[in-house]
Amino acid sequence: MDFLKLGGATLIAAAGGAVWRAVDQGVFRVGQGPAYEPWKNWQNAATATERIVAAGILASNPHNSQPWIFRITESTIDLFADHTRQIGVVDPFLREMYIGLGCAVENMMLAAAAEGFTATLGLMPDSADETHAAHFDLVSASPLLSDLYSAIPNRHTDRGAYDAARLLASETFEEIEARVTEADVRLFWYKDEAARSQFGKVALEATQALIADDQQSMDSHRWWRQDWSQLQESADGITLDTQSLGPLTPIAKLLPDLPRQQNDAAFVKNIRETMLPTAAAFGILAVNERGDNTQRLNCGRAWERIHLWGTTQGLAMQPLNQMCERADREIQLGSGPVIGNAVRALLNDDSWQAVMTFRLGYPTQKTHLSPRRGLEKVIA
Ligand SMILES: Cc1cc2nc3c(=O)[nH]c(=O)nc-3n(C[C@H](O)[C@H](O)[C@H](O)COP(=O)(O)O)c2cc1C
Repeated sequence: MDFLKLGGATLIAAAGGAVWRAVDQGVFRVGQGPAYEPWKNWQNAATATERIVAAGILASNPHNSQPWIFRITESTIDLFADHTRQIGVVDPFLREMYIGLGCAVENMMLAAAAEGFTATLGLMPDSADETHAAHFDLVSASPLLSDLYSAIPNRHTDRGAYDAARLLASETFEEIEARVTEADVRLFWYKDEAARSQFGKVALEATQALIADDQQSMDSHRWWRQDWSQLQESADGITLDTQSLGPLTPIAKLLPDLPRQQNDAAFVKNIRETMLPTAAAFGILAVNERGDNTQRLNCGRAWERIHLWGTTQGLAMQPLNQMCERADREIQLGSGPVIGNAVRALLNDDSWQAVMTFRLGYPTQKTHLSPRRGLEKVIA
């Protein structure tokens, strides 16, 4: 967000003027309305398989595009990638789409256990159909309620400042690492000052390159939801409430939408001045073959598990994927791997390829719900 525009005459005009606009823009209704119901009624659906899907749709996913379709019976669930919900050239090879689907798989496995099933999971079960991401076979068992399952409705991406004075204990890093149980996924840490600064440099350069690429910037901006009634209708995308602007949020909501370029400039400023310098550490999740959908799904499962566990510990987390997005875009454009090489240097191990990057720390403010499309929109 552009804090500059919150000054002077604009601010007075906005504050003095339109209470109707405050109502219209949902200033008094944060986290309310149909787009937010899936967070509240996720355990209320009529059948167990619907409740498992309802847990799946609360997962982390790229740009909140929710690129999923589900088919269910009493004892099976099939998860499909909805390619129509691709985030354009931000994700030209669908890397993030399949990671997001993997996040949903993780929530669904936790929910299946809680609902009293042993789930047999097949990833990419149909070699003739690359949209078929997962098949679940459910067999009755004793219900297993886990802490991670209970954390599902409390997990939110935190884009605010983290508590820069509070470092993470070494056991916390070890606990997180222990949650990456997939053999084809590895977690790389950037903890000390030198490593954090090396990571931050690449993250900032990647963000600057992304906004300088008109098509990438436009495709990203397409998922920005400023208008309250539009977001209630589409129930997807990135909203002002989830930008962690604190007391500035209601004011920003009162003002007209920023032009894309101004929004981009504010985003870079936020990355440079808040997101990077306040992080306690950064992580990169890597796989052996970044084009392999099964490995991407496994990475998504690992990320969701990490974020849910972090939620149980009061940690704040945010994926920061601009460097992977730029590395893919460079390959798509054939423009030479500038950020691609920088990411390789960060890993410093050519047997692994980065697919998901993130920051973590302790929060300084409350996070808010992001919208979700309900079961009626995602079950085919
Ligand atoms: C593959 C992937 C990439 C993501 N990249 C970013 C990112 O670069 N920056 C960011 O703020 N959030 C990123 N996110 C988080 C999503 O925007 C977020 O999960 C989504 O908006 C839903 O919000 P929630 O996590 O609070 O439920 C990413 C999530 C996934 C799964």
